Amino acid sequence: MGVTFEKKRKIFHLFTKNFSYYIHVNKYNYLIHLYSGKYLNDISKERVSERYMERYAFLNDEKKETMDEDYYFSFIASQFEVAPFGKGDKRNAPFIIEGEDNIPITNFLFDSYEIIKGPYKKERIRFPYVRFQENDVTTLIITLKDEYKKVYLKLFYEISEKFDCLVRYSKIINKSNENIKVKKLSSFELDLPSSGYKILALKGTWGNDTEVEIIPLNHSLTKISDNHGARGFYYNPAIALISNEATLDNGEVYGISSLYSGDFSYEFKVDEIDQTRIIGGFNDETFEYLLKEKEEISTFQTLFVYSNKGINGMSQLMHEVIRKRIMPQTKNVQKDYILINSWEGYYFDFDTDKIISLIDEAKKCDINLVVIDDGWFKNRNSDTTSLGDWEVDNLKIDLKKVIDHAKSLKMDIGLWIEPEMISPSSYLFKEHPEFALIPENYKHPTLLRHQLVLDLTNNEVITNIFRKMIDIFDEYDISYVKWDFNRYLTESYSPSLPVERKKETNYRFMLGVYDLLYRFTNIYPHILLETCASGGGRFDLGMLFFSPQIWGSDETDIALRASIQYAKNIFYPLRSIGAHVSNRKIGSIQDKACLAFFGTFGYELDITKLNEEDKKQIKFFNSLYKDFHHVVEEGKYYSIFSPFSSNYAAWNVVSNNKKECLVYFMNYKKEQTKSRFLKIKGLSPNKFYFNSLTNDIYKGSFYMNVGLNLSCPMDPYFSALFVLKEVDDIRAKLYRKTKQVDGGKRDKLI
Ligand code: GLA
Repeated sequence: MGVTFEKKRKIFHLFTKNFSYYIHVNKYNYLIHLYSGKYLNDISKERVSERYMERYAFLNDEKKETMDEDYYFSFIASQFEVAPFGKGDKRNAPFIIEGEDNIPITNFLFDSYEIIKGPYKKERIRFPYVRFQENDVTTLIITLKDEYKKVYLKLFYEISEKFDCLVRYSKIINKSNENIKVKKLSSFELDLPSSGYKILALKGTWGNDTEVEIIPLNHSLTKISDNHGARGFYYNPAIALISNEATLDNGEVYGISSLYSGDFSYEFKVDEIDQTRIIGGFNDETFEYLLKEKEEISTFQTLFVYSNKGINGMSQLMHEVIRKRIMPQTKNVQKDYILINSWEGYYFDFDTDKIISLIDEAKKCDINLVVIDDGWFKNRNSDTTSLGDWEVDNLKIDLKKVIDHAKSLKMDIGLWIEPEMISPSSYLFKEHPEFALIPENYKHPTLLRHQLVLDLTNNEVITNIFRKMIDIFDEYDISYVKWDFNRYLTESYSPSLPVERKKETNYRFMLGVYDLLYRFTNIYPHILLETCASGGGRFDLGMLFFSPQIWGSDETDIALRASIQYAKNIFYPLRSIGAHVSNRKIGSIQDKACLAFFGTFGYELDITKLNEEDKKQIKFFNSLYKDFHHVVEEGKYYSIFSPFSSNYAAWNVVSNNKKECLVYFMNYKKEQTKSRFLKIKGLSPNKFYFNSLTNDIYKGSFYMNVGLNLSCPMDPYFSALFVLKEVDDIRAKLYRKTKQVDGGKRDKLI
């Protein structure tokens, strides 16, 4: 049972083995946040509210004679679970609702609660969600009622002992007989009693999709958000709140990640007495919602993990729950595909013969999936046309022939598609100009990559596009889909929504995207889906709910790629990051394969033009994939060096039984003589491991405390993947003996 309610003191305790979260219902029926952090079996000794000095308490209009703990309640100093708006608390508020009187004062007070075993399933949520099973979680639902209007707020807390995490979301229900404007809607508020935190955020742009940014929190309002409608790169909805003393492996870190691909926001405010408030939910810049009588609206879910083992501890908790309870568990995830994608090899310039040759060469190199990227549908010979007209260009490619050929070699075929888009020169646009997301009477809409976005707030549009997709995927035996999204929303006030709902467009658009993805994955669960947005944009848990992998970045040059992957690794399981070996300038095929190995692994170049040596390398890495990629897929991740604060990118992944470990290392700037040791993490200290770098055998404790000696002059972009593999004691002893006898000659025992 991960939730208790102590009736006498009205205290809720949500807990896992390592984490506690306490909420108190005070005598004015405010929900007060008492504590969140390392597991604490009782909060009573702390005399929860006593620390609020009289100085703040006097601001209350309550009588001083009630010297109980609630006497110290104060709008200025209390930590709320749901802060009011328009009253004494002038910090940022999580919910703002406005009635027909145009007054937005909002004051939600405790009404009732419910504790249930398992996740809350009474309604089908329209957003992606954490797929908790019955035994994974206990759910606490607290209902509050606004003091002024008959409007209810439900707070949902799913606490999972099994995955050591908490999932939060909320819902507003209008039971009044007036129309309500929801001006701010949050998934959560988290008030912490101190300051001294910094934020680790991921930001990016096309080609440098993901960079780590460390933002110290101060007394001004800090907002990490996105307003592009369907998230591009900009800020990622995964962040970490890091206490000042925390490091990679020690100290307190909260990981927070939203299951949403649209406009989100996290607000941070350190108040006048140095407490920290965090609020996360829809970005109120682009969100306003009309809630009519009897209507309700829910938020997306936000996942929280708490670690006192530093950033790496946080990453490991995140990776585990994402892998096991967010990413789809259907057949398509289990397939061991090594793919080759046509994009960087051919762009739009291919035909049946070229693809057949690619298949033949791929077969020789043990590649088993060939993906035909952009350019397979009618008239699409550049990025200026045809989005929306999803019909095979039979003059360019005989898709049936290509598939039959691949199948005869026991290989599969994948296709690229960009379903949410429409080209102004397409037949679809000629027939249905109203399908484009352009407000009536607003001419000259913004074109980005020569294209417009479809109005997915309109069910008719979703159905039309989905029918076209069915026509393709029912007719052709396709095993993989790359689902792209190459521009963001502009002028996003839907022509199909009534005037009073225009500002709901971005929110409703995202629901439309999820609807389309639900329909597709329901009908084609066997198709392996990889989402993509101009490279590695829209990389979030909303998308990972549908597609077990997301293309990491259009940047495939190892120099930047290593830092992009490093940044993504912090929050996302390595196996979810689409990574290919390409033909870019920096690094050899081997260098690129070392890095791609720590993602989904595949290729994106014209292998028919490679020399024999490069093909040998490809075959070697493909055999390595069969032997060791399971470590990347399931192992525990440890960052060693950050390219954002050192000259290296380095990490290691250890299999769950600790018998195998894969290490990645990359050097950035040329370094001449340099003492350099790479300390590996997470091994069994007393077991012996053979390492493929020096072909030596040492104990785990040696690798972890002394490290691997990389003290040699190093060129820029020197990079390596090496394997540590446990060997038994006898083999280790034998190895020592051999070394003595032959004077230290290196011996391969594995
Ligand atoms: C986007 C993707 C690329 C490729 C092109 C095709 O830019 O990120 O990988 O699929 O679209 O147009």
